[in-house]
Amino acid sequence: MATETLPGEQIEELRAIAGEHLFMHAQQTTTWRDAGLKIFTKGEGSWVTDIDGNRLLDAMGGLWYKAAGYGRKEIADAMYEQLMAIESAPAPGACISTVQLSGKVADLYHDKRARVFFVSGGSEAVETAVKMAKKYQQLTGKGMAFKVISRRYSYHGGTAMAVSLGRSPAADPMGPEMPGAVHVPNYYQYKKTHSEDPIENAVRSANEFELAIVHNGPDTVAAMIAEPVSAATGVQVPPKEYWQRLREIADKYDVVLIADEVITGFGRIGGWFGTDVMGVKPDITTVAKALTSGYAPLGAAIATAKIADAFIGDDSRTFKHLITFGGHPVAAAAGIKNLEIMEREDLPGASATMGKYLLERLETLYSHPIVGDVRGIGLLAAVELVSDRDTKAALPVSAALATKIPKKLYDKKIVSFRAGDVIAICPPLIITRDEVDFLVGALDETIGEVEAEMGV
Ligand SMILES: Cc1ncc(COP(=O)(O)O)c(C=O)c1O
Repeated sequence: MATETLPGEQIEELRAIAGEHLFMHAQQTTTWRDAGLKIFTKGEGSWVTDIDGNRLLDAMGGLWYKAAGYGRKEIADAMYEQLMAIESAPAPGACISTVQLSGKVADLYHDKRARVFFVSGGSEAVETAVKMAKKYQQLTGKGMAFKVISRRYSYHGGTAMAVSLGRSPAADPMGPEMPGAVHVPNYYQYKKTHSEDPIENAVRSANEFELAIVHNGPDTVAAMIAEPVSAATGVQVPPKEYWQRLREIADKYDVVLIADEVITGFGRIGGWFGTDVMGVKPDITTVAKALTSGYAPLGAAIATAKIADAFIGDDSRTFKHLITFGGHPVAAAAGIKNLEIMEREDLPGASATMGKYLLERLETLYSHPIVGDVRGIGLLAAVELVSDRDTKAALPVSAALATKIPKKLYDKKIVSFRAGDVIAICPPLIITRDEVDFLVGALDETIGEVEAEMGV
C-alpha cells in the first residue's frame, strides 16, 4: 500500500500486525516493538517520510545502497515497461534487460570481457563468487584448493557460507562453519594498528594473508576475499598499498582475489568500483545494493574473462549453480536505468567531490572531546567516539550509545542505523552541500547532548 498519511488507529493497527507477525532482520523484536516500528511511506531525493508524518534525511542510504536517491520516476517507468512486456523469462532463456545489464556492467568493469552471474542480493553474490573460485581452481589444475581466507569481523552476508567468512558478530553462525574458512586480522588504522605509518601498517596488515597462505599450504587455498573499505568494522579505509599488496600475494600463490563490493560497488567511494579507486584489478567482484539503488533486489558476481573462460567447454566445465530469480528482468530494468542516471549525473564523481566536503565538515566535530576519529572516502564515512582521545579507550557500555544516538538523531530528522560508538554515514550520492550541513549540524548537537549527559 503506497500512502503517505493514515488515521491514527490504522497506524496503530499496522504496528500491532508488525508486532505480532513481522520478523525484522537482525533486530530484537521487543526493542522495535516497544519503540513502535518505523514505517516509511514516501521517499524523495535524500529524504523519506515516515507514517507519523516526519520528514527525515536518510544518512545511511537505506542500508548502504541508495545511490541515485528516492523517487526516481524514470526507474519506476522502466520497471513497469518490462513488467508489461514480459515479467520473467522461461528457462533456459533470458529477457532483453538482463542481457543488456550484463553488457553495461562489463563495460563499467576493469575487464571489458567480464561475464556477469546475476543473483538476488549480496549474500548470494558472495556464495556465488566463492563457489566459482573453488571450481575455477579445480578446472585449472589446483584441485586440492578449498580454503578461503577472509578478514576477521568483516561482514559478507547472512547465509550459511557467507557467515563463515569474517565471522562478523552481526550474523549468527549457528554451528560449524564452512570447512576451509581461514581468518586473518582485519585492516585497522585508528585502533589495533601495526604501525602509526599508514603505508607500513597497510603492508603489514596485507601480509597477514601471505602468512595464512603459507601456513595452510598454497595448494589448499582457493581464494581470498575482502571489502575495499570495510563498513562492518567501522568504515576502515586502507591506503592503496594494502590492496596492491593483496593483488601481489594472490598472484604469487595463484589464489583468486575476490573483492566484496556489495557496498563499495557503483560509486560509493568515488569511482565506479572501490577497487578502481584502490588501483587494483580483482579476479571476481561481488556487487548488489547500489546496482539498482534499492529499487529492486539484485546482485552479481562479476568474473574476469580469465575466470569465466575456464568454465567454457564440455559439461564438466559447466558452472552448476542456479538462483531462480537471479537477474530478474524487472530488477535488471531498474539496474539499467539506475546506471544510466548515475552516468548522466556522474554520481561516482559527485561522491568523490561531496565526500571531501562531508569529511571536511565532519572534522569540525573534533571540537568535541569524545570524538576520537573521523574517517572516510567518497560518501562513506564514520565518526568514532571514545572516552579518552590519548588512550583511545572506548566509552562505557553504560553510556548506551547504540540506543541513545539513533533516537536523538531521529528526533533531529536524521535516519541512522546502529549508530553507537561508531556513527556510520552513507547518504545517497545525490546529497547536496546544504543537506550535508544539516546532517553534520544534527551530529554536532547529538554528540554535545551525549557529552552533557555524561558530564564531559
Ligand atoms: C560487504 C557486504 N557483503 C555482503 C553483504 C550481504 O548482502 P545482502 O544483505 O544483500 O545479502 C553485505 C550486506 O550488508 C555487505 O555489506
